[in-house]
Amino acid sequence: MTKPHLSINPSSTFQDSLPLTLGRLFDFPDDPIACMRKLQKANGNVCALEEAGSRIYFIFGTEYNHQVLSDGASFHSRFFALRGPRRSPQRRLTSGLLSMNGDQHKRNRRLVMDAFQKKAILNYVPTIKSLVEDMVDEWRPNTERDIARDMTEFMLRLTSSILFGVENPEMVYRIGRMTDHWIHMNHELGMGAFVSDPELAGRYTELLDYAGELEREIDEMIQFRKRNRTGTDMLSLLIRAHDSEGSISDDELVGQAALIFAAAHLTTAHTLSWTLFLLAQHPSIMSEVYRELSTKLTGGFPTVEQADSLSLTERTIKESMRILPASSYSQRVTAVPTQLGPFTLPVGTGIVFSQFMTHHMPELFPDPEAFIPGRWLTINPNPYQYLPFGAGPRMCVGAPLAMLILKTTLPTILQRFKLTMVPMSEVSTKVISTMLGPTSTVMMRLEEHDGRFSSQPVMGNIHSLVDLREAAMPLRRAA
Ligand code: HEM
Repeated sequence: MTKPHLSINPSSTFQDSLPLTLGRLFDFPDDPIACMRKLQKANGNVCALEEAGSRIYFIFGTEYNHQVLSDGASFHSRFFALRGPRRSPQRRLTSGLLSMNGDQHKRNRRLVMDAFQKKAILNYVPTIKSLVEDMVDEWRPNTERDIARDMTEFMLRLTSSILFGVENPEMVYRIGRMTDHWIHMNHELGMGAFVSDPELAGRYTELLDYAGELEREIDEMIQFRKRNRTGTDMLSLLIRAHDSEGSISDDELVGQAALIFAAAHLTTAHTLSWTLFLLAQHPSIMSEVYRELSTKLTGGFPTVEQADSLSLTERTIKESMRILPASSYSQRVTAVPTQLGPFTLPVGTGIVFSQFMTHHMPELFPDPEAFIPGRWLTINPNPYQYLPFGAGPRMCVGAPLAMLILKTTLPTILQRFKLTMVPMSEVSTKVISTMLGPTSTVMMRLEEHDGRFSSQPVMGNIHSLVDLREAAMPLRRAA
């Protein structure tokens, strides 16, 4: 996910007995994972960071994830920091599912679900096939590519096409790029609001103007789809969705479309990049995965049934989303006065929960920094222990579609080329807004398959999140 509003909570009293760290609040957006690791180490699984009487609250692990994520009535979602004036394009664009709560969320989620049913998802398969085949057809053996960039561009095209249709790729990709740019502006300016940066605050008008342009483009697409009622793209399904109270209005469609794009694009792109990177750096697992693909597939894009039969590939994707979850944290805001561990929280208090922190708890996942797809043969964590797609009433509606994209795209790439990291290249990452993705290039060498795979030394801060020493402990890393 991309842009949660970071709620800072005034706190008038300081009590020694509470699990609190006094520090800089800005440490959190600056480096969320480093900050959360310190807080958890010092205070345990429920705690707060306090500066000058203001606090950010944090929860980690099964018990608190369950309390907060299962109770949508007490803990609301608040996603975009800058909502814009009432009845403005910015307000409408930021009014998708993740900005809704209570009955409004329930109803809209039911309506939106029509576009995510199995039957609808199967209609998107030809688009996935055509775009991934176009991508690998362009790649050449014995060249080096920035895989992170390729995956981001691939997902931009795929998300735009699934959402808006394939008849007019130029217009569809333009809306995709504009939505992507608008999301970046929201991120930068949201942070600007957080740190009171006057330069960024000055760009607020720019954001509102850009929201106007984007809304016009999306609206034009809505009108086109309304004139041509037979489309199987997501927007057409959203237009046709209705219940006893009617259908989704044009204004609501704008918000749902923008949110779906924001939710799908980088989450899936980062998951693709991380999985390819982790496989390239774990040659024994890569070799087992390649054997599975060679045995069960015939070289090209798998059918849905074939993709579902790739059990090791699926364990590899699950493990990749455990160790480097693209959505690394998110936030809820209390809707009623609430007791959270030792804290009594008033209405409007922001609470951060974190997939990354939970997935790296050794009591839940032994040897948490090691990439071990084989662990999934023996573990069966509950939804509040393993939550790459969130958990509870607002768990990702796109999860089955995302899994289908991952389970068909990765085999198509991995069968076509042998991927090896470029030696001594840098792989760095930072959580930007809530998203854990590569911030450097992820340079890979593409070659014809020769049955031999090797890891390469890489630089960068990726080593602070993942233990890449496969060679030293071959048995532990068995697939
Ligand atoms: C690997 C890819 C993906 C990951 C890791 C991911 C992760 C998540 C997470 C963690 C949430 C819950 C956020 C929260 O509780 O605050 C969420 C919600 C959501 N996701 Fe995904 N997502 C992915 C792909 C997709 C795709 C492909 C789509 C649509 C095409 C999508 C659409 C949504 C929507 C609409 C919501 C809001 C649900 C609600 O509020 O009821 N996601 N996603």
